[in-house]
Amino acid sequence: MRNKVTKAIFPVAGLGTRFLPATKSVPKEIMTLVDRPLIQYAIDEARAAGIKEFIFVTSRGKGALEDYFDHSPQLENELRKKGKTDLLEILKTTNMDSGAIAYMRQHKALGLGHAVWCARRLIGNEPFAVILPDDVIAAEKPCLQQMVEAYEETGGNMVAAMEVPAAKASSYGVLDIKEDMGSMVSVNGMVEKPEPGTEPSNLAVIGRYILSPHVLKNLNKIKSGAGGEIQLTDAIAQEIGTERGVYGYRFRGQRFDCGSKSGFLQATVAFGLSRDDLRDDLHAYLTDLMATEKAAQ
Ligand code: UTP
Repeated sequence: MRNKVTKAIFPVAGLGTRFLPATKSVPKEIMTLVDRPLIQYAIDEARAAGIKEFIFVTSRGKGALEDYFDHSPQLENELRKKGKTDLLEILKTTNMDSGAIAYMRQHKALGLGHAVWCARRLIGNEPFAVILPDDVIAAEKPCLQQMVEAYEETGGNMVAAMEVPAAKASSYGVLDIKEDMGSMVSVNGMVEKPEPGTEPSNLAVIGRYILSPHVLKNLNKIKSGAGGEIQLTDAIAQEIGTERGVYGYRFRGQRFDCGSKSGFLQATVAFGLSRDDLRDDLHAYLTDLMATEKAAQ
């Protein structure tokens, strides 16, 4: 019997420089898509996949994140007095069971690999998931749930993978494919941010992973890779050729890069249009806007 994946690491210790000046005082993960912060989408996806323990790797200035998952007795009392039961229900989705959530500090932003390594003692000797909250995925079946189901068949290590245009490959970790099995590929190699023209495929890794605890041991030994940061990709690549191996999983769904301004704006529009309470207004506004722009050309 394979170990179930019940722990997830949420690395949220990055500086978020692409969103300065906002991220000077607001953690990127608290920025909202419509009315829910990015982190709420990540938590909901993890819950749907059966995750029971939520480990945040944070840094200085991320206090708002810890407050977000806390109970808020004063606010709850006010809402109760006013009979706002619908809002109380919404607030409930932000509460975590006692002991289900843990925070680790990454004292220096030394890279994603280092952030994951900071959580090693809370993971122990079990497989675990990693979710990057700035990759938001709209999907009928949540992406991590798709991956957990596939992982139950394969075991090993699994990364979420997405086709990208060649011109964009140098912004991602890219898979060198050994065998293509459709929704899944087995992996021969992984290159972090390849020089343009040298990418081994157009299949890029995005922010969802299911990893063997051996990856944490590999991180112990890694000094630094591309860009002077400790890369998670390097530690995963060391699993290639072991009995566990590495698989890429082509998830079904649309991924938004909410770590970039353009991706964040696109996600805002897409999530707004998917909401019953907002669709009509937003659609009418966008249609008008496009018509005015066209007329002005
Ligand atoms: P990014 O590459 O998006 O970096 O990190 P960033 O600092 O968040 O944002 P920019 O590029 O400065 O705008 C991808 C994920 O890895 C986490 C980030 O919090 C984000 O979830 N991360 C990155 C860490 O936790 N620690 C690090 O040292 C680096």
